[in-house]
Amino acid sequence: ARTAAVIPAAGRGVRLGPGAPKALRTLGGTPMLIHAVRAMANSRAVSLVVVVAPADGTAEVKSLLDAHTLPERTDFLVVPGGENRQDSVRAGIDALPPGYDTVLVHDAARPLVPVDTVDAVIEAVRDGAVAVVPALPLADTVKEVEPSADGGPEPVLATPARARLRAVQTPQGFDRATLVRAHATVTENVTDDASMVEQLGLPVVVVPGHEEAFKVTRPLDLVLAEAVLARRRK
Ligand code: C5P
Repeated sequence: ARTAAVIPAAGRGVRLGPGAPKALRTLGGTPMLIHAVRAMANSRAVSLVVVVAPADGTAEVKSLLDAHTLPERTDFLVVPGGENRQDSVRAGIDALPPGYDTVLVHDAARPLVPVDTVDAVIEAVRDGAVAVVPALPLADTVKEVEPSADGGPEPVLATPARARLRAVQTPQGFDRATLVRAHATVTENVTDDASMVEQLGLPVVVVPGHEEAFKVTRPLDLVLAEAVLARRRK
């Protein structure tokens, strides 16, 4: 029962502002992607990491992996990504060799997820869940709105009870056959892999996520990520 991690890292990171592709921006002097790769490889259960690189950047990503110290017991593959996140994840899944029956999908944009969270997701899959997502309760109340096209006020449609909501993170963990079937069946664009499994009518479970698994999306997230790293290095 071997575990592989797929890391989609082919996004441009437009919301972060101008500059290099998001995964190649540095945190504490090290590219975000390397942090994310280490976060997966630091789990003793993970023996293969598949990095999905920008289609025109596979050589650059390969040399980046070669240039950094990574656990020796882990294998690494780099494959070209696609137009959207889902295409990139599918490219990563297609590259998995036989023998890996648990698959993690982890965003390069969550570089600081602690290894205990990774291990908890893997354990839940090995205990029999077909799809596992780490998630946290919300601080904010969430409203569903009718999105406005012109930036004007947006009518509120509903306010789901906050106590029942969770903000989901990655790595999400899957039984490999289930993940492959989800990606072969669901064609509309979704923002997380577990929702594709839900669409198959299969059970998805949530385990506790971690504050430090937040997604680096906007410039303020870079400030927070640097602060978390500085605290770890103390
Ligand atoms: O855009 P978003 O923040 O949802 O991206 C989540 C992850 O998906 C990032 O790690 C990004 O690099 C990746 N991605 C990708 N291929 C794309 C778009 C996003 O691998 N075409």
